[in-house]
Amino acid sequence: MEKKEMLYEGKAKQVFATDNPDQVVVRFKDDATAFNAQKRGSVDLKGEMNNAITTLIFEYLNEKGIKTHFIKQLDEREQLVKKVSIIPLEMVVRNYSAGSMAQRLGVEEGIKSPVTIFDICYKKDELGDPLINDHHAVFLGAATYEELDEMYELTSDINEILIDLFDKMNIILVDFKIELGKTSDGEIILADEISPDTCRLWDKDTMKKLDKDRFRRDLGEVTEAYVEIYNRLKVALGK
Ligand code: C5P
Repeated sequence: MEKKEMLYEGKAKQVFATDNPDQVVVRFKDDATAFNAQKRGSVDLKGEMNNAITTLIFEYLNEKGIKTHFIKQLDEREQLVKKVSIIPLEMVVRNYSAGSMAQRLGVEEGIKSPVTIFDICYKKDELGDPLINDHHAVFLGAATYEELDEMYELTSDINEILIDLFDKMNIILVDFKIELGKTSDGEIILADEISPDTCRLWDKDTMKKLDKDRFRRDLGEVTEAYVEIYNRLKVALGK
């Protein structure tokens, strides 16, 4: 496999072409942004940790029958993945109140929801990725109603698997965001990453935040939190 030109640079990752038109290389950076890039910084080891954590989680999800773009880890910062066209919708799942939902609804963080809450956001930097509903997504041409049904089901299956996995790590999966992509033959699969950048993860005993909120809210010990998640994940998966 030969790595070729950069196709895309995002806030936390770069994507490179390869000599295979169906495969791309994803490179994880240490750069961190929050609040629609109004806050910028860098977190030591973040790229390596998110690459390693995403690798372990995507391999585990593959074993559990979830189709993902992941092919293999290449080195500390890079992984080889199937090329997909990313559906411009962020699929957010919430098991507890936190973050933007707690703010929007005027409730405290940490209230366990009796139902699984799904939000979708339109991926559009200029607009700050606004919260939308299914009808807006269809209006925008981002997905059909049938595709949205499939996307919610896939997201829900992933949530069930991850709740159990993090539970084994003594961690509450508060909420997370995933991105789905379409392969060249039209299949919808999990893409992007699942890491402390994209999940809220609280230690069950201490409720300590072990995720990007440490960066967003200047809580300190950011690298330590990412390393802690990686270490607990390795133990839970016997790696
Ligand atoms: O900010 P909000 O509370 O809506 O975030 C919900 C979940 O989605 C959090 O776990 C957050 O880390 C994740 N998220 C993300 N990328 C975004 C927005 C939210 O990974 N652009």
